Amino acid sequence: MGRIEFAIAFLSILIAVVAPGPSHAQTWTAAERSILRSLWIGSLPQLPKDSSNQVADNTEAAKLGQKLFFDMRFSGNKKIACSSCHKPEKGFADGLPLAQGMGAVPRHTPTIIGTAYSPWFFWDGRKDSQWSQALGPMESPVEHGGTRTEFAKILYSNQAYRKSYEAIFDELRDTTDESRFPNIAAPIDDPQSRAAWDAMKEGDRQIVSRIYSNIGKAIAAYERLIIPGPSRFDQYVEAVLNGDQATQKELFTDDEIGGLRLFIGKGNCIECHNGPLFTNNDFHNTGLTPRTDAPGNSGRAAGVKSVQADEFNCLGPFSDAEDADCGELKFAKLSGAELIGSFKTPTLRNLGKTAPYMHEGQLSTLSAVVDFYNRAPKAKIGRSELKPLRLTETELFRLKRFLMTLDGPLMVPQALMSPPR
Ligand code: HEC
Ligand code: HEC
Repeated sequence: MGRIEFAIAFLSILIAVVAPGPSHAQTWTAAERSILRSLWIGSLPQLPKDSSNQVADNTEAAKLGQKLFFDMRFSGNKKIACSSCHKPEKGFADGLPLAQGMGAVPRHTPTIIGTAYSPWFFWDGRKDSQWSQALGPMESPVEHGGTRTEFAKILYSNQAYRKSYEAIFDELRDTTDESRFPNIAAPIDDPQSRAAWDAMKEGDRQIVSRIYSNIGKAIAAYERLIIPGPSRFDQYVEAVLNGDQATQKELFTDDEIGGLRLFIGKGNCIECHNGPLFTNNDFHNTGLTPRTDAPGNSGRAAGVKSVQADEFNCLGPFSDAEDADCGELKFAKLSGAELIGSFKTPTLRNLGKTAPYMHEGQLSTLSAVVDFYNRAPKAKIGRSELKPLRLTETELFRLKRFLMTLDGPLMVPQALMSPPR
């Protein structure tokens, strides 16, 4: 080797070592690789058993649930179904800042994708199972705006529903006698529905609430099938775990890799957005400004009280669980400053389809979200757990780019995306 060739060879080695080129960006330490593996969809465990719902994994129940999910007859004005707000084509959300049913709902619609993995439901966790959650909107005057006696009667009067109900549960009790079962009756805030409910015999109330809880259990069996599929991020992690440099390069740009580094590093996002669904299923105060001064702003502090008092909770008379299966409910933290203004960490999968963001849809774009985390404003209610990140414009851009790689197809057959035939 001549002197010149030698100098060139030496220089290029020096450049390769010193310059942080793309090849450098592709390397992950063993510790980082194990974090990436934990976020990877391949780490998603089997669905947890729901012992409070004995038909949770029953195929017939899922079919009935799918019908109910899309059926607008189960509403006060016959125009609202679960699918009105959880639209399959919008990532099972609705694209609105605040939901709109029979009236204006003060919260943003979250996705239902992968929620079967969560021990708590709603932004404030005021429900502890997917089936008891489903019973909330059906009797909410601003959502479905119906009552449980109406729902029991609709099931009874429809041959197909009656047949499938009886094949899954037991005999569907006759609720047509209006002197025992008023057309509109439920233990809700509406004074008329409430009075009609209170006037019913306890045994008849039990009959109706049993049917109502079974409606929820069938819907939950359907919702359990709505599971996320691999995103571009997951394909990238697979390539990293296989040491496949060429595929990594094809899948992720340098900006996206930089964003991922920030997500698991300086941005500290994985403190709360961890595991393959990018959520710790816990409640945190991030200091978002509420739109109004509604009592619901106390978040988890109120939610944990509601779930304890809920007749449809894991320990209640309509649950199929043994007391020993209800650990989450029994050992839930009931008070503490950190519960005030805290909301459930949402999944970050499919963000591209579920804008706007946050429990009141306060932030309309991912740019607004990363900018919000960068500033971490002081909370108006309780105390924010966040600290300002002080990231540069380029870093914020990369973080956003990374978040956009988390969109993927669902792991569900197309037949589940619309009403069953
Ligand atoms: C009018 C719109 C609307 C309708 C109709 C509606 N939802 Fe929702 N859904 C929402 C909103 C808004 C929230 C969040 C409310 C809150 O946290 O206070 C929500 C929350 C949920 C959650 C909790 C997700 C989580 O991560 O905690 C599930 C599951 C869900 N809905 C399923 C259903 C089912 C099943 C039905 C039909 C029985 C239904 N929804 C009907 C708007 C709607
Ligand atoms: C202390 C826990 C915590 C940390 C740290 C955290 N988040 Fe969040 N994140 C939450 C909670 C809680 C919400 C919902 C807040 C609400 O609506 O009140 C949320 C909401 C979001 C949303 C909106 C999702 C939706 O569907 O509405 C995005 C996007 C997001 N976070 C991204 C990030 C990124 C990026 C980082 C890192 C820079 C981060 N988060 C750090 C807890 C956290």
